[in-house]
Amino acid sequence: MSTISATLNIMIRAAERAARSLTRDFGEVENLQVSRKGPGDFVSAADRRAEEIIYEELSKARPDTAFLMEEQGVVAPIKAGDGNPARWIIDPLDGTSNFLHGLPHWAISIAYEEKGEITAGLVYDPIKNELFTAERNKGAFMRRKRLRVSGRVSLVESMIATGAPRRSLGQKERFLKECDAVIDAGGSLRRYGAASLDLTYVAAGRYDGYWERSLKPWDVAAGYLIVREAGGFGCDLDSDSNNAVETGNILVANEGCYQPLKKLIRACG
Ligand code: IPD
Ligand code: CA
Ligand code: CA
Repeated sequence: MSTISATLNIMIRAAERAARSLTRDFGEVENLQVSRKGPGDFVSAADRRAEEIIYEELSKARPDTAFLMEEQGVVAPIKAGDGNPARWIIDPLDGTSNFLHGLPHWAISIAYEEKGEITAGLVYDPIKNELFTAERNKGAFMRRKRLRVSGRVSLVESMIATGAPRRSLGQKERFLKECDAVIDAGGSLRRYGAASLDLTYVAAGRYDGYWERSLKPWDVAAGYLIVREAGGFGCDLDSDSNNAVETGNILVANEGCYQPLKKLIRACG
């Protein structure tokens, strides 16, 4: 990596501390699988603990910055700043269902937003020891290694990731149509259950594209910057605007697959 800004350094420190706590708890989850009650309450506590650690670290380093966090929601800065409109957007544990089932595929996601623009993003998978980061106009990295999206130019033999909508959203029919269309186009589908990692896997050239609906800003804020800094393209699924972080309906892909995938998914609406 070229030079890491002070902001990204703070983010890395917070994520590494939270990761130690989550990794310890993940080790416990296996033991709880066999109990009748399951590890549900334990995992909720692990999730909250991780968020608290990240909050503590970041607010200590930047007392004038606000927060948007999955568990606690909007939290004002502990010290009034000079009108600094920056905020941290945090998902302390993305891939909770995987964590709960002892599946080693989950991550911590932290983004930094300044004047409505995401300027730094971090996604950390401590189990695989993969740290994905990006800063605006400075590229995307896995530790020191520069990330680039894949060079595949068509959906034939592509690998495309997605996320299934929760039953309560009533989007099953459309989703199944979209999956059908991707498979018919020759794509290999994946549904791994951690949106932040789906995005970073596109950035790393492992997937060629990814789409999902009804996500939250903390699921995508960091990963979306990482994909674009790795040379990927992205948009809100239903319009061409760049506000997928707010709408939570996202499509990203490498250059060659972006237009074909977008056309295919939209044609299913
Ligand atoms: C979830 C994951 C999953 C996506 C869900 C998200 P959580 O986040 O990112 O991949 O399909 O919609 O809510 O609940 O594990 O933090
Ligand atoms: Ca999430
Ligand atoms: Ca979460």
